[in-house]
Amino acid sequence: MIDLDKLSQEAELAAQAALTVDGLAQVQNEFLGKKSEIVSAKKELGSMPEDERASAGKAINSARRNIEAIFAKRKLEIEEIEWASHFAKEAADLTEVVSPITRGHLHLITQARDQLEDVFVGMGFTVAEGPEVETAWYNFEALNIPDWHPARGNFDTIFVDLGEPEQVMLRSHTSPVQIRTMEDQTPPIYIVAPGRTFRTDNADSTHLPAFNQIEGLVIDKGITMGDLAGTIDSFVQAFFGEEVKSRLRPSYFPFTEPSAEFDISRPDGSWLELGGCGMVHPNVLRNCNIDPEEWQGFAFGFGIDRLVSMRYQLDDIRELVLNDARFLRQF
Ligand code: FA5
Repeated sequence: MIDLDKLSQEAELAAQAALTVDGLAQVQNEFLGKKSEIVSAKKELGSMPEDERASAGKAINSARRNIEAIFAKRKLEIEEIEWASHFAKEAADLTEVVSPITRGHLHLITQARDQLEDVFVGMGFTVAEGPEVETAWYNFEALNIPDWHPARGNFDTIFVDLGEPEQVMLRSHTSPVQIRTMEDQTPPIYIVAPGRTFRTDNADSTHLPAFNQIEGLVIDKGITMGDLAGTIDSFVQAFFGEEVKSRLRPSYFPFTEPSAEFDISRPDGSWLELGGCGMVHPNVLRNCNIDPEEWQGFAFGFGIDRLVSMRYQLDDIRELVLNDARFLRQF
């Protein structure tokens, strides 16, 4: 008869050597399956002398139970190890360095546009809008620039191939919003209108063919050039800080009389032209059915891209449209 103690010891060692539930099942089959020594030993019982048979049968059964217990215990151990390693794999590694998800931000021009709106809203203005494709009436005629007027040539206009030649265009300035507002609202009017504008200008360090302006329009009683100068000065200080100065220089625009350009001081003492302004021309008021004897006003329009390039000391205004993320990320 086989050595049952030795068999139990071998089963114990083989069970310990198994590291997976599947591996253990295989080993268990070797010790307890149909072809195992213990099953053959049981079969041999029949050929044993009768007086030995009962005690041998008991010994075999007890060895079998012992071996079954060895495998059951080992199975629990392996399952525990497998679960532990599974949990370890699934668990978040709190020491892992994960690069943070970087959030984008508004473009510099949009930021400036929002801040400009805030400054003017703080001064009592509301924000108005107009279309980017305009008719000659709004872009020129209502602004006192009839088609024979040489000033039309100053606006290097991009025409749209629609209707009569040169009657539909990408707006060359935000001044058409003055007309649209005066047509829609009755005075007093205090609006600013930021938006995109287009000219055939070649891109260089201070020009873009598609750029942004912000228009301002005030129509009320007893408005003077002093109100205009004061408004521009307050705006410049609110936007750039106390150290930046503004100045007005006599100029000419068909839609204002008198007209001026306004400049702001650069840190090196030189001046940068930001925009044009003036008292709204009586013809413009009449074109919008507003009586110039009763109402007066001023208007201004300046370039937002220029203003941004001044504020951040950019050498070249084209940086704003190159969309180089390394540049944009700085602001
Ligand atoms: C005008 O466009 C007038 N509509 C301004 C105005 C409004 C005058 C109301 C009086 C009353 P001007 O063509 O000068 O004016 O343009 C105004 C500003 O737009 C310029 O001073 C400049 O800051 C900006 N600008 C003009 N062309 C470009 C360009 N190609 N690229 C970037 N900025 C420009």
